[in-house]
Amino acid sequence: MKFLLSSLLLPVSVQAFSATHGAHRSIRTDLRAETNEVIETVVEGVDDVESKLELETNFVEKEEASVDEMQNIKAMHSSPAEYEEVTFKCDKNTQFWKDYNMDGNYQEADFLNDVATVSSNFISKGSDAVGYWARHNARSGYFLGNAVLGTISSSLHERLRNAEQENNFASAFSAKVIAGMLSEVALSYEQDYERIEQGKYKKPYDMYTQNRQNNPFYFGQQTSRFISEAIGTIARRNRGTEDDKRTWLTDNPSTELYPDYYKTAFHYQTDGWMSQDSANVYETSTETLFLGRQDAMQRTALVPLVEFANEMKDIGRPLKILEVACGTGRFMTFARDNLPLDTEFTAVDLSPFYLDKARDNDKNWRNIRKGSESSDTKIAPATFIQAKAEDLPFEDEEYDAVICMYLYHEIPREIRAKASAEMARVTKKGGKVILTDSYQLGDRPGMNPFMKNFEKMNEPHYVDFIEDFLPLHFEKEGLVPDAKIFCSRTKTLSFTKPE
Ligand SMILES: C[S@@+](CC[C@H](N)C(=O)[O-])C[C@H]1O[C@@H](n2cnc3c(N)ncnc32)[C@H](O)[C@@H]1O
Repeated sequence: MKFLLSSLLLPVSVQAFSATHGAHRSIRTDLRAETNEVIETVVEGVDDVESKLELETNFVEKEEASVDEMQNIKAMHSSPAEYEEVTFKCDKNTQFWKDYNMDGNYQEADFLNDVATVSSNFISKGSDAVGYWARHNARSGYFLGNAVLGTISSSLHERLRNAEQENNFASAFSAKVIAGMLSEVALSYEQDYERIEQGKYKKPYDMYTQNRQNNPFYFGQQTSRFISEAIGTIARRNRGTEDDKRTWLTDNPSTELYPDYYKTAFHYQTDGWMSQDSANVYETSTETLFLGRQDAMQRTALVPLVEFANEMKDIGRPLKILEVACGTGRFMTFARDNLPLDTEFTAVDLSPFYLDKARDNDKNWRNIRKGSESSDTKIAPATFIQAKAEDLPFEDEEYDAVICMYLYHEIPREIRAKASAEMARVTKKGGKVILTDSYQLGDRPGMNPFMKNFEKMNEPHYVDFIEDFLPLHFEKEGLVPDAKIFCSRTKTLSFTKPE
């Protein structure tokens, strides 16, 4: 599981914005205002062809100036993380993960020492903390068990088939790699719990109530789905041929709804995004990859979301929140659990199968949540819409906040730019855009040499992604960077759309 190594960070305290950055931002804001002025004039209707041409030339020149400015920013910063450090208010974990095993000298004992320290920290905090720690250890134990079973099953399967390929996936596991993973898991839980203690968001609803996740039949079924999926995925990953990247949709020219970049078997998973089987096993597969800490990493997005919802509590109408590329909707359930119950939540994805699973997750969450509310409490279902991130079917300024999680590393750079423009467009003035995705170059310098390995999991845009200055896509649209929150291999960046 070499690619597990190749992933994510946070520094102490609020970073002061650099004077240089302030200058960049004001140039960009001026450019945006001028450009908008030009567009408005065009829209108002200029009949004279010459004037039109002049305006167009003006517009192109300004766009070029903006491109130059972006290039200057890139030239001045050695990595996306370095730029973010001077642009966002970084939480303390950003620095923590940046320093973590920075020189790559940690040994097994160092990693295990981290686990022991986290464990005694939890114990010293009392019964509530111990409850969280015990539940999350059980959770990671389950996913570790899945990882072991999946790897053994895949090795046996390959041997029975007399496959000639080396199982380089399985052979990448060593005691040190596993100890490193356990250390990251423990530290992620410690940081998640700290954010809960600080009231940044609630405890995960599904850890403390009776629900299907605690039902042996449910998780037994998930494990058996995962093992059969792992056998296929690992075999395809070991071979890594073009054929292994195909799905039933790959060569289908009639499906204009689905862009070419979408028609591949991401992660070598069966059917890519396009089957119910894929949607049913997705959460178990990704949580196994992260040994159970994916939820904790994703909850970094709750920090700016909940803060924003608190600021908006007196607006006198329900909040309108949009999640783009919601996948199976697991994060949506945490978001909804932390937002006012009358929030109108819309979830978009391109896969009808993943949307259907998200609908099921939403129903499950509503049932659990209703159990802790008075009998007459109404919780409306979220709205689910099949659409592209780069072409959202909404009016301008329809949503108070827009969230997008783990999408950008899977799409080409020009689609990232279009999706950012769309998210900025549909956000109300004064609203938020919250982007959560994988760590990138510079976030954890010790991981820089390994990050690219994730591309081998049929992640065709990952190498470009780790070099892409993501904030620039949003700043170009007039959004202003706010906060950066980091956990293990995931970061959340939040932006405000100025009034
Ligand atoms: C890695 S998954 C992430 C899902 C979910 N946000 C999560 O964090 O678990 C990527 C999701 O993006 C969706 N997707 C990919 N390209 C898309 C696009 N252009 N527009 C909308 N959804 C897209 C896929 O269908 C898939 O559900």
